[in-house]
Amino acid sequence: MTRITIADAGRHVGETVQIPGWLYNLRRSGKILFPQVRDGTGIMQCVAQKNALPEETFNALRHLTQESSLIVTGRIREEQRAPGGYEMDVEGVEVLQRVAEEEPYPITPKEHGIEFLMDQRHLWIRSRRQHAILRVRHEVIRAIRDYLDSHGFTLVDTPIFTPAACEGTTTLFETKYFDDDLVYLTQSGQLYNEATAMAFGKVYCFGPTFRAERSKTRRHLTEFWMVEPEMAYATLDDVKQVAEELIVYVVGRVVENRRQDLATLERDLSKLESVQSPFPRISYDEAVKFLQEKGSEIQWGGDFGGPDETLLGEAHDRPLIVDRFPAAIKAFYFQPDPERPEVALGADFIAPEGYGEIVGGGQRIHDPDLLLKRIEEHNLPREAFNWYIDLRRYGSVPHAGFGMGVERVVAWLCGLEHVRETIAFPRMLYRTRP
Ligand code: 4AD
Ligand code: MG
Repeated sequence: MTRITIADAGRHVGETVQIPGWLYNLRRSGKILFPQVRDGTGIMQCVAQKNALPEETFNALRHLTQESSLIVTGRIREEQRAPGGYEMDVEGVEVLQRVAEEEPYPITPKEHGIEFLMDQRHLWIRSRRQHAILRVRHEVIRAIRDYLDSHGFTLVDTPIFTPAACEGTTTLFETKYFDDDLVYLTQSGQLYNEATAMAFGKVYCFGPTFRAERSKTRRHLTEFWMVEPEMAYATLDDVKQVAEELIVYVVGRVVENRRQDLATLERDLSKLESVQSPFPRISYDEAVKFLQEKGSEIQWGGDFGGPDETLLGEAHDRPLIVDRFPAAIKAFYFQPDPERPEVALGADFIAPEGYGEIVGGGQRIHDPDLLLKRIEEHNLPREAFNWYIDLRRYGSVPHAGFGMGVERVVAWLCGLEHVRETIAFPRMLYRTRP
């Protein structure tokens, strides 16, 4: 007997096949049962007639409980009104494990509170919406890789255990590394990317990063995935151009390939279709003026708060690029603007609809003396940065790169309230379980 996936049902119309899956839902109507079976690729509406099945099978199915595992056998038929466009007329059922009545599946179609659902995250990911979000995430990741792989970037992954900070010392998770040594979980692969860019030209790393920030917001995770491209012989302008192209490509791929999932999420597609080049561009100075006019308390020299990012993003139908931030609020490695050394050659991309910063990056200091000065000003341990300074001693060139957070992008594309639903097992200030 041929086993198929529900996504593939269209190629088996008229055939009798098997679908291994789980019971998603069951409606009963006298002598007919309408079990819905899910298999991870879709949901199949099945029809089981009492007179077409052995009595034992019909009765077993009739009393089957939600999320019991089963293999259904039956004929596939086209049905316009069914969710996936096909139905199965059931000819047989094999139950692998029946969920006990006394301990039913905890997530029912009724409304549950978010903390309860988060505690049940290992099961919640089976639900239609969560499933759709994680499929969008997969498409986002695939699209990022496809874009970079086809534009001359080499994937060179960077370490997770690191001896020093990258984005600032206050947000490091520290862990014991044998005997008495301490290492930190990486906040960004950037510093290592700068080394690999000098070896390969254009590189990217793509992996989990960690921030021990005590931020309890809808945009922050303590463990998140970041893609970080880095380019030798490149400037801030290259960062803006590549990040913009990458975002347009990723959004296009999701709209094209995950239409069904976006429909499940009731996402307004027109909001994604407007994400085309060119993106609006303003300076930090202009952004501060704009925010002050909107009533924000921000002063020149301050960092944007969450509400500031929301105000900036809401003013446009596509990401906004803000550049040239005060050097004092940026990390030690930013190249200063030669015409205005008090500002850094960095840029942030602020998503529309209130999703906040999705990309941060810029040009790195390539002069060894200036870099040393910054390392001292930031009280960073010189010893740990010797290798990084070497990159400025042996064939230093202007170079630039950026980081894009996968979860923020997925939250935006799916139209979600909070990043916690964009990753299978979120890690946040007050959540490390399940
Ligand atoms: O702006 P960030 O901190 O930049 C860097 O780490 C640079 N070293 C990257 C580089 O130039 N190679 O972080 C980059 C992006 C943000 O724009 C945001 O999308 C995401 O990473 N991000 C977070 N996502 C979820 N939770 C958090 N706590 C995040 N912090 C940053
Ligand atoms: Mg940033």
